Amino acid sequence: MKVRIGVVGNGAIAKYRHLPEYASRDDVEIVALCDIIKAKAEKLALRYDVKKVYTDYKQMIEKEKLDAVSVCTPNYLHSEITIYALKHGLNVLVEKPMATSMAEANEMIETARKNNLVLMVGQNQRLAPMHVLAKKILESGMMGKVNTFRTVFGHGGPEHWSQTGKWFFDKKQAFAGSLADLGVHKVDLVQFILGDIDQVACFTDTLEKKECTVDDNAVAILHMENGIMGTVETSWTYKPIEENGTVFFCEKGTLKMAVEPDAPLVAYFAEPGRGRCVFEVPQIQTNEDGGQFSTGVIDGFIETINGTRENPVSGEEGRKALRAILACIESAASNRKVLVEEVN
Ligand SMILES: NC(=O)c1ccc[n+]([C@@H]2O[C@H](COP(=O)([O-])OP(=O)(O)OC[C@H]3O[C@@H](n4cnc5c(N)ncnc54)[C@H](O)[C@@H]3O)[C@@H](O)[C@H]2O)c1
Repeated sequence: MKVRIGVVGNGAIAKYRHLPEYASRDDVEIVALCDIIKAKAEKLALRYDVKKVYTDYKQMIEKEKLDAVSVCTPNYLHSEITIYALKHGLNVLVEKPMATSMAEANEMIETARKNNLVLMVGQNQRLAPMHVLAKKILESGMMGKVNTFRTVFGHGGPEHWSQTGKWFFDKKQAFAGSLADLGVHKVDLVQFILGDIDQVACFTDTLEKKECTVDDNAVAILHMENGIMGTVETSWTYKPIEENGTVFFCEKGTLKMAVEPDAPLVAYFAEPGRGRCVFEVPQIQTNEDGGQFSTGVIDGFIETINGTRENPVSGEEGRKALRAILACIESAASNRKVLVEEVN
């Protein structure tokens, strides 16, 4: 039996990632698309041979016999649509950041639990082969203890990615700027690999983006429960080249991911004569046209629904990333260090 899918929000992420990844699977049928701009839904419906198009997600959920939905709308709508779908018996894959507050995230997780349904969050960085392998390398002890890290995600801004992306700049719809858009990926990644963040100290600013009520740049120090500390930088003003790399500085050397163009994952050893080791992994995805390929998110979602795999990014994991970002926002606003446990 095929998993019957509906996709709410037919903008950039639906077009570049969700729809092609669903369409590549034999065990999925894309049954309906929904966007408040009907022409967008119709255009993608034509491309993917989808029979039904809606402008109201409630109608789509009520009229179609779906098993699951992807929620690919602006951030402020994630919780509303997710909770509605879960209450109607559908599994949900919601884009990152999963919600705009802890209260919303808590309700989403609780509704999924009560209804015994899958709730997955589109935090795709932890699924990238280079990051999966980096975690294994660190766990193997090859690099010794991790002392500190640096992780960066910056590009020229969402206006280069999405035609309808004005909402990214509006605090009411996005709740935060580069931190919510890019930082949430990186705090998820470092928590996936290293453990939980317990304290943050963050600066944010809006340096270039006009008519923007959110940050276009942020720099934060992240401290983890296990004592590791590092920094995250996020930016919508890095041009013309995107940065999406992470470096772990360890007892026995340095491990770099998506930093060197010829070596997506590379270890440098401190021991004299040992040199460097380049691992065979694909480059990281970029926001640029040529940079799209399967993220593994849809595979993870469908396999979790089919019961063949554990949810690779549960609601609880998505909430952890959101919480760290909310702590960064609070730190920047109050000009002090913030304990993650303060954010509820
Ligand atoms: N995982 C990733 O790497 C990644 C990358 C980019 C964006 N995203 C996330 O995906 C989400 C969407 O981002 P995007 O870049 O596709 O934005 P976008 O503006 O291109 O697309 C959003 C779409 O939602 C539609 N929409 C708005 N309100 C709606 C409603 N009530 N019902 C149905 N449709 C509605 C808009 O018309 C638009 O087509 C955001 O949460 C963003 O953070 C994730």
